[in-house]
Amino acid sequence: MEFAGAHILSVEQFERSDIERIFDVADTMAPYALREKVTRVLEGAILGNMFFEPSTRTRISFGCAFNLLGGEVRETTGFKSSAIAKGESLYDTARVLSGYSDVICMRHPAEGSVAEFAAASRVPVINGGDGANEHPSQALLDLYTIRKELRGRGRGLDGLRIAMIGDLKYGRTVHSLCRLLCLFNNMHITLVSPAELAMPESYVDLARKAGHTVTISAELTASISNVDIVYSTRIQEERFPTKAEADLYRGRFRLNQSIYTKFCEPNTVIMHPLPRDSRADANELDNDLNQNPNLAIFRQADNGLLVRMALFAMVLDVVHLVDRHARPVHWFNRRDYE
Ligand code: NCD
Repeated sequence: MEFAGAHILSVEQFERSDIERIFDVADTMAPYALREKVTRVLEGAILGNMFFEPSTRTRISFGCAFNLLGGEVRETTGFKSSAIAKGESLYDTARVLSGYSDVICMRHPAEGSVAEFAAASRVPVINGGDGANEHPSQALLDLYTIRKELRGRGRGLDGLRIAMIGDLKYGRTVHSLCRLLCLFNNMHITLVSPAELAMPESYVDLARKAGHTVTISAELTASISNVDIVYSTRIQEERFPTKAEADLYRGRFRLNQSIYTKFCEPNTVIMHPLPRDSRADANELDNDLNQNPNLAIFRQADNGLLVRMALFAMVLDVVHLVDRHARPVHWFNRRDYE
């Protein structure tokens, strides 16, 4: 695909070669993310960051990614602080904000809302999550993380064995990841959830049509014993009709160190899009995994910066200029990224 000026709305728009390009560019962003050097390539550019749902990682890492490329960030968080609370349409909001920004990131609770917004925007729009539908930048950073983790073990992406666990019905990260895996070969995908929170059929069909082996299960321990990646997710309580309904499923699939030691192959990588729900009744990834070197959740979050920098550099067409605008870092820097 042509990235310059493009909206990034769904992983559906990518081919395998596009993913490889994004990952190659993301690799080149590491010295900037690690503050070994700075670049001012986007000096003068403005990111409009519009988050109408709670967010820590996605919002801040999109903002930091833009700052690290030298650009400025303006934000709206929540409906109450935006004129949408006064009845303004997505169309009008998009027309106005795209006059103020060079690129816009948006998260919104309604499926399809970001695409609707993008249709009226005069600048590229990146989907930061639209309801239970998609979260393309998360899927990219997830796959980038998987590639990096497996590379350290001498493996590529084809032939990957992955278990996705938890709320596969409402979890937009697993929807986008499942679709993205369809670009690769011979995947073994195990989908672990209560039957009521199963992965939507459309994604299962896509994976099967791609030639992947898809196994559906409601049992944790059997499903994690033969995989490279355990990808755990949170019950998306905000998408359930009532909190009482979400409570029925919370804490169903808990992974801790003793279960890991007993059932997983050595070196199985543990991932989660975060936030993990650390409340006692949920606790899908126990804190006792924090010392496990295969817990990749914080490396995964760090990788979000690289992938989001790559997306900005590509849609604003400055990849070839990033290094030309590089300068040394002057401040004390004691980073110990893994
Ligand atoms: C996810 C999301 O918002 O979809 N978080 C994130 O962006 N990393 C997952 C979640 O909220 O459970």
